[in-house]
Amino acid sequence: MPILEGMMTKSYQAIYNQWQVDPIGFWAAAAEDIHWYKKWDKVLDDSNAPFYHWFSGAQVNSCYNALDRHVENGRAGQLALIYDSPVTNTVKKFTYAELLDQVARFAGVLRSRGIEKGDRVIIYMPMVPEAVMAMLACARIGAIHSVVFGGFAAKELATRIDDAKPKLIVSASCGIEVARIIEYKPLLDEAIELSEHKPHACIILQRPQAQAAMVAGRDVSWDEVMQSSKPVECVPVAATDPLYILYTSGTTGIPKGVVHDNGGHLVALKWSMQYIYGINPGEVYWAASDVGWIVGHSYIVYAPLFHGCTTILYEGKPVGTPDPGVFWRVISEHNVTVLFTAPTTFRAIKRDDPNGEYVRKYDLSNFRTLFLAGERCDPATLHWAEQQLGVPVIDHWWQTETAWPICANLMGIEHLPVKPGSATVPMPGYDVRVLGENKQEVVSGQIGDIVIKLPLPPGCLPTLWQNDEGYKQSYLNSFPGYYITADAGYKDDDGYLWIMSRTDDIINVAGHRLSTGAMEEVLASHPDVAECSVIGVADELKGEVPLGTVVLKTGVERPHDEIVKELIQMVREKIGPVASFKTATVVKRQPKTRSGKILRGTMKKIADGAVYRMPATIDDPAVLDEIAADLAALGYPHK
Ligand code: COA
Ligand code: AMP
Repeated sequence: MPILEGMMTKSYQAIYNQWQVDPIGFWAAAAEDIHWYKKWDKVLDDSNAPFYHWFSGAQVNSCYNALDRHVENGRAGQLALIYDSPVTNTVKKFTYAELLDQVARFAGVLRSRGIEKGDRVIIYMPMVPEAVMAMLACARIGAIHSVVFGGFAAKELATRIDDAKPKLIVSASCGIEVARIIEYKPLLDEAIELSEHKPHACIILQRPQAQAAMVAGRDVSWDEVMQSSKPVECVPVAATDPLYILYTSGTTGIPKGVVHDNGGHLVALKWSMQYIYGINPGEVYWAASDVGWIVGHSYIVYAPLFHGCTTILYEGKPVGTPDPGVFWRVISEHNVTVLFTAPTTFRAIKRDDPNGEYVRKYDLSNFRTLFLAGERCDPATLHWAEQQLGVPVIDHWWQTETAWPICANLMGIEHLPVKPGSATVPMPGYDVRVLGENKQEVVSGQIGDIVIKLPLPPGCLPTLWQNDEGYKQSYLNSFPGYYITADAGYKDDDGYLWIMSRTDDIINVAGHRLSTGAMEEVLASHPDVAECSVIGVADELKGEVPLGTVVLKTGVERPHDEIVKELIQMVREKIGPVASFKTATVVKRQPKTRSGKILRGTMKKIADGAVYRMPATIDDPAVLDEIAADLAALGYPHK
């Protein structure tokens, strides 16, 4: 690993400069740390810009790099995966050899069901080891997986089925939310009913907590098919072939199919483990997220295994399963070195254990660093975590689209001073700029659109699934030559990035990315609703939660609370419980500009109790007073 040795003595600035001076040489050196069947013809293929491809001409396999390689190189007996599930009272451990065996056999199952390189497989599963096995089994035979988070409703799953067109779906009979059994199978059946595309087959993991009814001729049980399966070997794929599609909220009700490829993804993720997370092969890494999100893809499954670490798959919550000490129990029981989670987790723990009494019950002496991402980290939460844990707490910033951090602290190299509220500095590979309205860079301290100069580094999305035009439209067209992050913020005099808000209609609820536009589409479909808007309002626990305001059609005289209840139920059924859509109210009018645009930003400021200026373009200022009164009736702004 030449690059690692050469870099260990350097500073952040030296490494960033090294990348700036010779980006191709930088990534070529990092790629030496990966197993390739055939090396690349070109490190960066820019012949079809603005579509860039890393390591074109190379042949590789992500599953081989995650499992076989380690088994062949002395890690066969080391733990690869620890499944810790307080909701089922289970801890199960898999060595690299055991995980490889399961994955190779499930890959055999997929193959026997006609799945080949390039075919799509949807995985709709709770946090069970079989979800990880299914992902790696797809990677093994070059099939493209698309994991759908369990908290989404059937309609959301149906949309993804229609876009990805999977030949096969892997699912489970149920998930467990604290003590509640959530039956997945009825949701899956409904989604297949709703979708135009129909999968040929479904493989269902029957969990002891619920038995799913099977559809004859289509559904088979995981255990049954695994009994007779034969293991299969890794299939070399092009570095530029897609590894997976992960759907994420866009600005409409239709989610975007973010693609990540094999080669660049391998190189960047492996690199990030050593340099950003500062962890060594053989150590235990825990990303407390869900395999349905990007954090789960990158840092529960792929990066820790690429790096030869032990990864933790945790099925539970930070509180209530059974108490706010459960994270400290997992860290001490399994010797976790690095934890990665969302600030919401810490707000939840702090709420239930403000003085950190549970923290002191456990031996955390092997715990080295806490990383937070997914939403803005408020300084109070960061300070609390630092005080309780006595380790560095690193806020870092990235997106589903990038798959690894854009801004962070290179903990494997140099721990730069933490500035609470800032995601620290750009990582090598990312030329981050802040642009103003005239598309020129603004001076430090001034807020603008945060963009990244093209090309994006390895690991980031090369395009959207079968939608090159949508990729350009969503990310490239507004600022030619740059990728638009859709985050606004500023750079300070030391080059630290401060991520302040989204520039689109995305909100961040408990670290989950959701589109208010999609929620508005649901509200607008209610027969009594004439007009509506959804805004994200500040929430002490979840950072932000959605709040809906609706104007009723003339003549509707039904009780408002009845309509509101229906609206809440509709969002739950059409988007899912994960939206946490629990508050809506009927208003007389929406505040608008003279051209008819709803003033969502101003409403948000009123709800949050923030200072706001009367928009110059407002149609009727009196509407804002009405809205303020309606929001006050709901308890906004919170005291
Ligand atoms: N399957 C089905 N339903 C799910 C689900 C899943 N996989 N995940 C969440 N839900 C449901 C929850 O049961 C809840 O339903 P409810 O409204 O009926 O209670 C709803 O979706 C919202 O879930 P959640 O956001 O998890 O809120 P919560 O109130 O249950 O728990 C926290 C609050 C703070 C404990 C929780 O949000 C949390 O653990 N946050 C950490 C965030 C995180 O890990 N983010 C990952 C990105 S790094
Ligand atoms: P997702 O694609 O779900 O990971 O969400 C990405 C979005 O979450 C980003 O575009 C930001 O808006 C937000 N986000 C992620 N990490 C941070 C952070 N450290 N600080 C502020 N916002 C963040």
